[in-house]
This record gives sequence, C-alpha cells and structure tokens, in this order.
Amino acid sequence: MKQIKQPVFLCGMMGSGKSTIGKQLGVELGATFKDMDDLIELKMNMSIPEIFEKLGEESFREAEKNLLIEESQRNDGVLALGGGSLQNQNLVDHVKLQGWLIFLDTPLTTLVERLRRSQNRPMIDNTTSGLENRLNRLLEERLPLYSQAHIKIKTDGLSIKEIVTNIRKQLANYEQ
Ligand code: S3P
Repeated sequence: MKQIKQPVFLCGMMGSGKSTIGKQLGVELGATFKDMDDLIELKMNMSIPEIFEKLGEESFREAEKNLLIEESQRNDGVLALGGGSLQNQNLVDHVKLQGWLIFLDTPLTTLVERLRRSQNRPMIDNTTSGLENRLNRLLEERLPLYSQAHIKIKTDGLSIKEIVTNIRKQLANYEQ
C-alpha cells in the first residue's frame, strides 16, 4: 500500500541522483516513480539531445514547462524533475501546491566528478575544462529556486539507502 498522502517531487542539479533516489524511494513507499526526462522523450518521440539539437533549448523548456504543469497535477507518487524543470517562481509555487518538494543538495565537486563521464546531457560539454564553471553558474542561477523545497537533503557522503531513509523520516514528519 502507498505510504504517502501527498506526491513527492525531487529537484536538484543533473548528477544529484534524482532518478536513482526517486526509483528507490518509490519502491520503499509503494508508490509509482516517473522521471520528467523520460516523459518528455516519450511525448516528443525524441531523445533529450535530439530535442536540443533539432528544436533548440527554448522549445525543450516550453515542452518541459507544459509537461511539468500537467504531470504535477496527475502525479500521485514520486516524480524526478529535470535539473532545469523549476524554471521560475511560478513553477516552484505550482509544484509546492501539489505535493512535497525535495531538494537533493550535492556539492559541485561531486557533480563535476559524476558528469565528466555523462554523454547525453546537452546543457554541458563534458569534454571541456569549463565543466566546473558551467555547473557553478547553473547552480547559482537555480539555487534560489531549489532551496525553497520543503525538504533539503545534503547527499554527500551518504549511500542511496541512507538518503532514502532520511527522506522517508522527514516525509513522515511532514505528513503527521
Ligand atoms: C537539464 C537536465 C537534464 C535534462 C536536460 C536539461 C538541465 O535532466 O532535463 O538535459 O538543464 O539541468 P537531469 O537533471 O535529469 O539530468
């Protein structure tokens, strides 16, 4: 049986572990798990890099915004957002009205380490030494939005199991 009363939304930078944590959290809560990137790919019938390449970032963000609005109303389980899904204050407010927003707060050095090997993220060029600067700029822009989450988890040094347990404890407090 599902162990949450309200749906859960995971936000944070690419590489922060939203999909991995979300999947496990869904299993432990007996709730569905969905990933915004998968939903966008399904809807547009293209991979994320293809969407960026063929339609450009602006079209991707428009599709992402519309889908987030729809999906956040439909979601009754765990939804992992894309790193840039919380595009503005309205979207943060909207998501927070639908359920619990959780921010996976992962330090820049860990993100750089993880994303150096990533092949399919068009927002970053992992072959350049500018990866750290790029991520730092994105993080600075997004932190004011991410940090409005109901629950913030500092993920560094914690295992997947520990992070999920931590989230479950905090959710249980919120849902009392
Ligand atoms: C993006 C993050 C990606 C994906 C797209 C853009 C971003 O999702 O939506 O490549 O702007 O941070 P993940 O955070 O799941 O990697």
